[in-house]
Amino acid sequence: MNSAAPLVFDITESTHRQNDDLRQKILANPGFGVNFTDHMVAIDWTAQQGWHDARVQPYGPLQIDPASSVLHYAQEIFEGLKAYRHADGSIWIFRPLENGLRMQRSAERLALPPLPEDLFLESIKALIRVDDMWVPSAPETSLYLRPFMIANERFLGVRAAQRAAYYVIASPAGAYFPQGVAPVNIWVSQEHSRAARGGTGAAKCGGNYSASLLPQQEASRHDCSQVLFLDSQEGKYLEELGGMNLFLVKRDGTLLTPSLTGSILEGVTRDSIITLAKDRGHEVVERKISLDEMLEGLRSGDISEAFACGTAAVITPIRMIKGESFTVGEPNAPAGELTMSLRQELTDIQYGRRADPHHWMMKVL
Ligand code: COI
Repeated sequence: MNSAAPLVFDITESTHRQNDDLRQKILANPGFGVNFTDHMVAIDWTAQQGWHDARVQPYGPLQIDPASSVLHYAQEIFEGLKAYRHADGSIWIFRPLENGLRMQRSAERLALPPLPEDLFLESIKALIRVDDMWVPSAPETSLYLRPFMIANERFLGVRAAQRAAYYVIASPAGAYFPQGVAPVNIWVSQEHSRAARGGTGAAKCGGNYSASLLPQQEASRHDCSQVLFLDSQEGKYLEELGGMNLFLVKRDGTLLTPSLTGSILEGVTRDSIITLAKDRGHEVVERKISLDEMLEGLRSGDISEAFACGTAAVITPIRMIKGESFTVGEPNAPAGELTMSLRQELTDIQYGRRADPHHWMMKVL
């Protein structure tokens, strides 16, 4: 499965690095997912050779056979993690091992080869070392790293591919939502599901996200930034948003979040919030939460805050929740107090502004 000796990355530096002025301009206001660094990582895999040919190469288009399984049967997985520049100029990544292990679980579900976690970590570090000047230092900015794996065997039969490739690209990032950290509205989709029981909901695979795009368009039509999906069996219980997990805060300070039923992504940010809230003495309950319970709680005031979380979204307050037959929340409601204070604590750790009691940060440079 894996090559015995550790792989050494062969580095080919780009002869077309972005010029300093343009890069600085991008880093001052990076947006999300629109600009990419000068290099990328690539590692190949075949059933015969295992993982081989690890390299850092100039960023650029892939050449892919049109019969590759990823293009037909969506045999693909990805991850998302961030590198942060601290005040002293050093560069750190947040809980990267969690992403590496989750990618192995996703690989198993999508019948792709698991990438050893040390190779995952080394791939992230190798790219940051070459593109370190792309890690921004403006407030609330970071370098978003996007590892992904595709099946690229030239074969149209439906079976696990015998050939795959792993890549890492990186993109300087500001806030995920164009309006910044301001509260967002979310749309409850009661027609479409994101994931079925026994399906791929817990895996980070592209198919889960493409399934969310049509309801996402519906959400946009209702002035909502994200879709909240319900369970596919009963259409009753909250699952997750298109690309984020969900938390509710009760008036008594208890945090509620949908339990990991197998169709919800095991968010690294979700897990970190649970830990930070428990550290503060909050009760955190992971269980099934029905749509009715949430709506009643928001109407009665028993639920006082709601927020979305994920690597890209960090912690984003939710203002209004809308569906075909209901709207709860006020158009000008401010962000929740606990929401913002947990956000502050998490980002303080990530940017090195406060102690890191759980040793989540890993120094790269
Ligand atoms: C992330 O938070 O890293 C994701 O993959 C979600 C996506 C909406 C950007």
